[in-house]
Amino acid sequence: MADLQGKVALITGSASGMGKKTAQRLAERGVKVVINDIVAEKVEQTVEEFKARGFDVLGQVADICNATAVEAMMKAAVDKFGTLDILVNNAGMEKAGALRNLSESDWNITLNVNLKGAFLCSQAAHGYMVGKGQGRIVNIASRAWLGGAGQAPYSSAKAGLVGLTRTLALELGRKGVTVNCIAPGLIHTPMWDELPEKNRLSFLAKQPTGKIGADDDIANAILFFVDDDASFITGQVFYVCGGRSLYAG
Ligand SMILES: NC(=O)c1ccc[n+]([C@@H]2O[C@H](COP(=O)([O-])OP(=O)(O)OC[C@H]3O[C@@H](n4cnc5c(N)ncnc54)[C@H](O)[C@@H]3O)[C@@H](O)[C@H]2O)c1
Repeated sequence: MADLQGKVALITGSASGMGKKTAQRLAERGVKVVINDIVAEKVEQTVEEFKARGFDVLGQVADICNATAVEAMMKAAVDKFGTLDILVNNAGMEKAGALRNLSESDWNITLNVNLKGAFLCSQAAHGYMVGKGQGRIVNIASRAWLGGAGQAPYSSAKAGLVGLTRTLALELGRKGVTVNCIAPGLIHTPMWDELPEKNRLSFLAKQPTGKIGADDDIANAILFFVDDDASFITGQVFYVCGGRSLYAG
């Protein structure tokens, strides 16, 4: 494991769930972390918690679907910490339902947050990395990119994120920036807790390991990709899903 001390990471949607856990794990390794979320109270609370633990942290309330807000957030991060080494495009949400029940706004918001947000953040961040000849972008997709009944907008958005990952890896490879994608399966976060009991039981029945993962399982994978030792790995989709990617549906 390489030394991450002093590096700067921005994790979108990091006032909750696996983003927050990842920010915590990076901060424990001496990384300066930018906590982004659209919900101001959650950002304030996370920043307070992190400061109390002695972490070097900056809070940024911003909607990642808004290009102006994203530009301002990246600038604030670099103004405060001097550079940007790591971007984790983690913020996401899902509007689920059968095709006939989904609205245009369900489609738009799901595509905007999960896909357009990652595009805007990568676009705003990559210049800082390219300038130094090194950087790490990790996109959080989902096993659902393979397809999932009732998940048309989410599956489409996450499939788009895989395409974005592969494309940016090709564009940025010679500039020292790696771009990889993690495809989580069921992970115990607030998103999971919000699902109806019937859905949770049916999801669990399809798990080869018979259990869901923890936020630390995703943080472990992110820490692997941002390490200097992972510099020859780019454009990959890495499943952290307890084997659920082994079959469809
Ligand atoms: N939990 C799972 O089982 C699971 C499985 C596969 C993939 N994922 C993906 O992992 C990522 C993290 O999920 P989680 O379970 O930790 O969810 P979470 O709901 O706990 O955290 C996501 C955070 O993103 C924030 N967010 C939403 N829209 C935003 C926007 N426009 N701008 C900025 N922030 C915004 C939310 O406020 C929230 O705090 C998501 O991309 C999700 O799609 C989760």
